[in-house]
Amino acid sequence: MAQQSLKVLTLFVCISWCAFAAAAEAAAAGDAAAGATFNVGTYGARADGKTDDSNAFLKAWQAACASSGKVKIQIPGGKYLLGPLTFSGPCPNVTMLTIVHKGTLLASTNLGKFKSDVWLEFYGVKGLRISGGGTFDGQGAAAWDKNSCHKMKNCQALPVSVKFIAMNDTIVKGINSVNPKFFHMAVIDCQRFTATDITLTAPEDSPNTDGCHIEGSTGVQITGAKIGTGDDCISIGHGNTDVLISSVECGPGHGLSIGSLGKYKYEKDVKGLMIRDSKITSTQNGVRIKTWENSPVSTIATNITFQNIIMSNVSNPIIIDQTYCPFANCGSKDPSKVKLSNIHFTNIRGTSATPVAVTLECSKGYPCQNVNLKDVQLKYINGSDATLTCANVSPQFSGTVNPKKCTAPSST
Ligand SMILES: *[C@@H]1O[C@H](CO)[C@@H](O)[C@H](O)[C@H]1NC(C)=O
Ligand SMILES: *[C@@H]1O[C@H](CO)[C@@H](O)[C@H](O)[C@H]1NC(C)=O
Ligand SMILES: *[C@@H]1O[C@H](CO)[C@@H](O)[C@H](O)[C@H]1NC(C)=O
Ligand SMILES: *[C@@H]1O[C@H](CO)[C@@H](O)[C@H](O)[C@H]1NC(C)=O
Ligand SMILES: *[C@@H]1O[C@H](CO)[C@@H](O)[C@H](O)[C@H]1NC(C)=O
Repeated sequence: MAQQSLKVLTLFVCISWCAFAAAAEAAAAGDAAAGATFNVGTYGARADGKTDDSNAFLKAWQAACASSGKVKIQIPGGKYLLGPLTFSGPCPNVTMLTIVHKGTLLASTNLGKFKSDVWLEFYGVKGLRISGGGTFDGQGAAAWDKNSCHKMKNCQALPVSVKFIAMNDTIVKGINSVNPKFFHMAVIDCQRFTATDITLTAPEDSPNTDGCHIEGSTGVQITGAKIGTGDDCISIGHGNTDVLISSVECGPGHGLSIGSLGKYKYEKDVKGLMIRDSKITSTQNGVRIKTWENSPVSTIATNITFQNIIMSNVSNPIIIDQTYCPFANCGSKDPSKVKLSNIHFTNIRGTSATPVAVTLECSKGYPCQNVNLKDVQLKYINGSDATLTCANVSPQFSGTVNPKKCTAPSST
């Protein structure tokens, strides 16, 4: 017994000492691989919510980026008035840059300060991580009145709260965003981007406050998110491949959306999207694919699966809309040239707030190919059967599907 304790003690001492020795050695070598830390407070951040702390954040970023190995930027608790700011790479000798964000970052309410359409931008960095439970507060309420983009085609876009552009291997974990002026987050031209346990919140009637917009990216995963906002909880735009959305609670908002696609000439194809294990509550749409009519070029969107989704009180639980035109005049009425194929709706259940639970309105120029509904069971919220409308598509059914009988859309 005594001998055993001694052994345990010896082992413990050795482990502690070894760890200490290694840390001491790394510190002595000035080796950032052991974790050099840059605290925004050290660089002069006041954290009083009134003084502009942009310079302190920029200096901490520059020091961390010019360092090497695994580095950390600390944002302690407190309110920081900031931006607009761009945190740029490359950080050539940094292998991982972790921002431990425990504070609340506040955007200016003065729109005149924003020269472009972003509040905080991360550009061209490999290995960024953001964690710490902190909040990005876009202070958008006053700007929402000035937003015209939900009404007009040619509009001045308001700033997105946080944009990630041309980033590789990014991980965002346990972060909150409230009241953005426009989108909460945008992931543009990124490779391998993961967000887990994020919470995005804005009022139901705030215009264009999409939760997370993804575009031109490969290997994006959003797993574990609570999103209640004024527009799409997640919108997956053009040029994306290999995207996984799972364990999202969405509502209020406009649902989990692919698109809109087919608005611009430069758009690229969309391939390999999986949206699963999610709950959508009291939203305008559930799962949606929307493409513009009169699209300038032909693109494809294929291999898209929506699986294991619970709908409660959703106005359009399942909707493919290829006649999207939110404005009075979208130009000529040419059909959408976005070709949709291999679309799977699997195990989707719950209630529709309107009698039409499933809308499949495909392009008359390019009918949808291989649209499958398997184990889809949706009821009108008062308990009556709901209906399914179809245009330019012959859906395939398997398992238990209700509604199952295609009717023509009432007006196109
Ligand atoms: C990166 O490390 C190399 C080799 O240690 C060094 O020569 C170079 O100056 C460093 N670059 C930066 C930007 O710190
Ligand atoms: C990200 O990866 C792409 C393709 O591998 C590469 O062209 C680009 O330079 C990388 N960017 C960064 C910031 O590492
Ligand atoms: C379809 O997408 C899934 C991911 O959602 C991927 O695993 C699969 O390889 C893709 N198949 C094709 C033919 O692109
Ligand atoms: C259904 O959703 C609407 C918003 O679309 C909301 O106003 C209403 O309270 C919800 N009803 C229930 C029973 O949740
Ligand atoms: C549900 O509402 C529809 C349309 O308002 C009505 O025709 C139907 O009888 C209602 N069903 C029940 C069970 O109340």
